[in-house]
Amino acid sequence: MTRKHTTHSLVSPRLETFFLSPTRAAELVRRTGVVETMRGMALALEEDFGRWQEFEKSARTANHSPHGVIELMPVSDHREYAFKYVNGHPINTRSGLPTVMAFGALASVDTGMPEFISELTLTTALRTAATSAMVARRLARPDSRTMALIGNGAQSEFQALAFHGLLGIRQLRLYDVDPAATRKLAANLAPYGLDVVCCDSTDDALRGADIVTTVTADKAYATILAGHQVMPGMHINAVGGDCPGKTELAAEVLRRGRVFVEYEPQTRIEGDLQQMPADFEVTEFWRVLRGEAPGRTGDAQITVFDSVGFALEDYSALRYMRALATAAGMLERLELIPELADPKNLFALLRQSAPAAAGVRAAVAA
Ligand SMILES: NC(=O)c1ccc[n+]([C@@H]2O[C@H](COP(=O)([O-])OP(=O)(O)OC[C@H]3O[C@@H](n4cnc5c(N)ncnc54)[C@H](O)[C@@H]3O)[C@@H](O)[C@H]2O)c1
Repeated sequence: MTRKHTTHSLVSPRLETFFLSPTRAAELVRRTGVVETMRGMALALEEDFGRWQEFEKSARTANHSPHGVIELMPVSDHREYAFKYVNGHPINTRSGLPTVMAFGALASVDTGMPEFISELTLTTALRTAATSAMVARRLARPDSRTMALIGNGAQSEFQALAFHGLLGIRQLRLYDVDPAATRKLAANLAPYGLDVVCCDSTDDALRGADIVTTVTADKAYATILAGHQVMPGMHINAVGGDCPGKTELAAEVLRRGRVFVEYEPQTRIEGDLQQMPADFEVTEFWRVLRGEAPGRTGDAQITVFDSVGFALEDYSALRYMRALATAAGMLERLELIPELADPKNLFALLRQSAPAAAGVRAAVAA
């Protein structure tokens, strides 16, 4: 019997990993424009949410500590595997570190070879805001022009600009328990021609709001928004309640609205939904996108997006940023996987590196 060789076994796989650093990612976003970047990312997200069934999905794996959480978020389709490492430590800003820090990768499903590694701290803020805008375009009233933005930290500019650029929000009403955060947000938004109002309470920020975005950080069952504060017709974009023991919305807010989620098994554990009974009805957003479930059905209806951040969004963001960076020639080569003449002889790598290793020993001894 003649043996057939597949093309795959004859071609030696490329061992190239490309890297996008935060400095280059920021330069790319500056060149593209922050709103244009999020517009492009929202299109990539729609494309991927539209082929939801093609992805192997799971809730993320979380390791909790008293002050925070570290999460791994995997997803794959038939071609590429993506993962993100991300933390959430609300206490960090007190010691000069961000609450959220992240990086991630795309790998070939055929070989497992990691082909792209990227910063995802900036990219997470872009993808979270692009996701919020994608969802709000289907759920918020089309005449929405005013948004309350509660929580004015690292994510907030991106949320503000995504809703301005992709939904037509003109007035933003800002509130944070830390007035310096609100001043920082107002200053960063100054060049964008928005009507920005700094408020001294959540109630003040909610005045006339069509959309309410909550993006606060506190590892607690917080009540940023109570049931009586929500008005008919509002769309709630709840971004900050995203891990067990960390919520922003009173249960009454969820009961008063129709609730939309990214991936139900994950949101049941992590979202504001964690407060509700297991049979509380929610709709996964991809079904609205594909016309399989209704979005908003009336002007007086209250809609709630209980956002926690799902791995598919990072897959979309990674592939979108890689495409932008490739086109701009801004990817760097990263030496990550060793090149071997004989893939079964990993040990040979130690012989090749012998002179360098001796050099290290000499340096340590000196
Ligand atoms: N859903 C997602 O996909 C997603 C993605 C990224 C971040 N997040 C979450 O969003 C939240 C914000 O992230 P960040 O990077 O902007 O954090 P950050 O620490 O930079 O900012 C959070 C802000 O919330 C304010 N705040 C805390 N409690 C408040 C309250 N009761 N009322 C008003 N303001 C309050 C803080 O003063 C701070 O300015 C975090 O909880 C983070 O885990 C969610």
